[in-house]
Amino acid sequence: MKKVTLHDKTFALSIPYSDIQQAIEKIAAQINKDTVGETPIFVCLLNGAFMFAADLLKLIEMPAEVSFIKYSSYAGTQSVGEVSELIGLNTDLKGRTVIVIEDIIDTGLTINKLLKDLQPKELKRVKIATLLFKPEAFKGDYVIDYVGMSIPNDFIVGYGLDYNELGRNLKDIYTLVQ
Ligand code: IMP
Ligand code: MG
Repeated sequence: MKKVTLHDKTFALSIPYSDIQQAIEKIAAQINKDTVGETPIFVCLLNGAFMFAADLLKLIEMPAEVSFIKYSSYAGTQSVGEVSELIGLNTDLKGRTVIVIEDIIDTGLTINKLLKDLQPKELKRVKIATLLFKPEAFKGDYVIDYVGMSIPNDFIVGYGLDYNELGRNLKDIYTLVQ
């Protein structure tokens, strides 16, 4: 099994790029079907979702805008349970269909905060697309419209996801070796 070491921890290959691509193709097909005739604005959550956004957007068929937002909730391998806005949305979203692009939904707090921040903006509708979902950790009470893969409650890196900023550039996803 292929392994990588980042800082003080070792991770083993768990989701190869081919599986990631398959999950993204499935999400893109659903979005293309659900958004016919609209011009959605995709909002990518930085930093983690940049690779997923890049691959997903290439498969989107309708005219679309892309914007970026940055929140922070992780320190090391544990969610710190608080989300602070770092870079806000400055695009006018009134009457727009917004599709949020997230790398992974864990506790769900980040998306919860984003949904609250979007509330006063009078959107037409908002949809959530996440590549990965940890159902065992999820505490949110909203619907996640598009899920690439549900995964166990383990800490992972790669394909945009980091361990203290390392690992984002890995093409495949790796799981922390206990
Ligand atoms: P949530 O607010 O708990 O849902 O966490 C969401 C954010 O935490 C994601 O956008 C990721 O950036 C980060 N995150 C959650 N799980 C992991 C993981 O296993 N590895 C790396 N980052 C993660
Ligand atoms: Mg993220």
